[in-house]
Amino acid sequence: MLEKVKSFISEVENATAKTEEEVESFRLKFVGRNNVINDLFEEFKQVPAEQKRELGPALNNLKNLAQNKLKELSSTVSAGKSSSSDIDVTLPGAYGVEGSIHPISQTKSRIIEIFERQGFNVEDGPEIDNDWNNFTALNFPENHPAREMQDTYFIEKNPDILLRTHTSNVQIRLMGRKKPPIRSIMPGRVYRNEAISARAHCFFHQVEGLVVGENISFRDLKNTLYHFSKEMFGKNTKIRLRPSYFPFTEPSAEIDISCFICGGSGCKICKQTGWVEIAGSGMVDPNVLENCGIDSTKYSGFAFGMGIERITMLKYQIDDLRLFSENDVRFLKQF
Ligand code: DAH
Repeated sequence: MLEKVKSFISEVENATAKTEEEVESFRLKFVGRNNVINDLFEEFKQVPAEQKRELGPALNNLKNLAQNKLKELSSTVSAGKSSSSDIDVTLPGAYGVEGSIHPISQTKSRIIEIFERQGFNVEDGPEIDNDWNNFTALNFPENHPAREMQDTYFIEKNPDILLRTHTSNVQIRLMGRKKPPIRSIMPGRVYRNEAISARAHCFFHQVEGLVVGENISFRDLKNTLYHFSKEMFGKNTKIRLRPSYFPFTEPSAEIDISCFICGGSGCKICKQTGWVEIAGSGMVDPNVLENCGIDSTKYSGFAFGMGIERITMLKYQIDDLRLFSENDVRFLKQF
């Protein structure tokens, strides 16, 4: 029997395999359920004790050798497969098509980042809303000409359901469910019934800001937007506020920044004025606070709104609004 074991040991040690079939037949013979080594272990039980001393270790050795050999054979066969001669490892790899983040999303993220560092959180609201949240609560009286400032897409009439014309609807929803202090920005898409051209589109994006609390003053508004402008357009940026009108703020102001292209001396971007407009703003009208159940004798607030497309066009000197929604990769891949 010892002779048989020795001859199996040398068979195992010398075994080679080039194909998976050869590995499998080795496995069946030496490792599988009915392998020859198991038979030897059966025979071993009948062997006289003095022979067992030599035979036992030899059998165990055979068993271990067979298991290790099987591992060795199957790894050489599978390694051989991937380096088989029909694969040229010197060929350059196939590159996937890489996308990029849309410039509007990039600007939006940058704006959010700047305001988050000033303690603002981000709020969201629906693009389809009712007349109350988009107009009436914002102090647009019924039949007031101010409603004509924003050509509206109506979905249903009486009661009116519409595509929001600005993100200001989120102000109303937020103040309705959260009491001061409020310090939020509200980015989102808005819709207006306008003919599409290089300077106007039927949808675009805004970021609205709202701060409500005790003793909030015009100074807070100015400082917040001053800080934003320097972060967004460079540390030498100056701002100026021009009186304006919005139904929901009183007083209202348009925010201009010094032209970051010419530094204020006059160029094409600023139309030789040295200033470019970036946002509308103002102190929240007490009527708006009261419409949302906030005590206007105790609390005051400021708000602002800016167009993300406008900021992006200024920053990258893009002169046609339509490029943002046409998805021409020759344009998009530049960002
Ligand atoms: N809702 C205005 C618009 O779409 C932008 C705006 C101006 C928002 C002043 C404000 C604000 O919150 O205070 O033209």
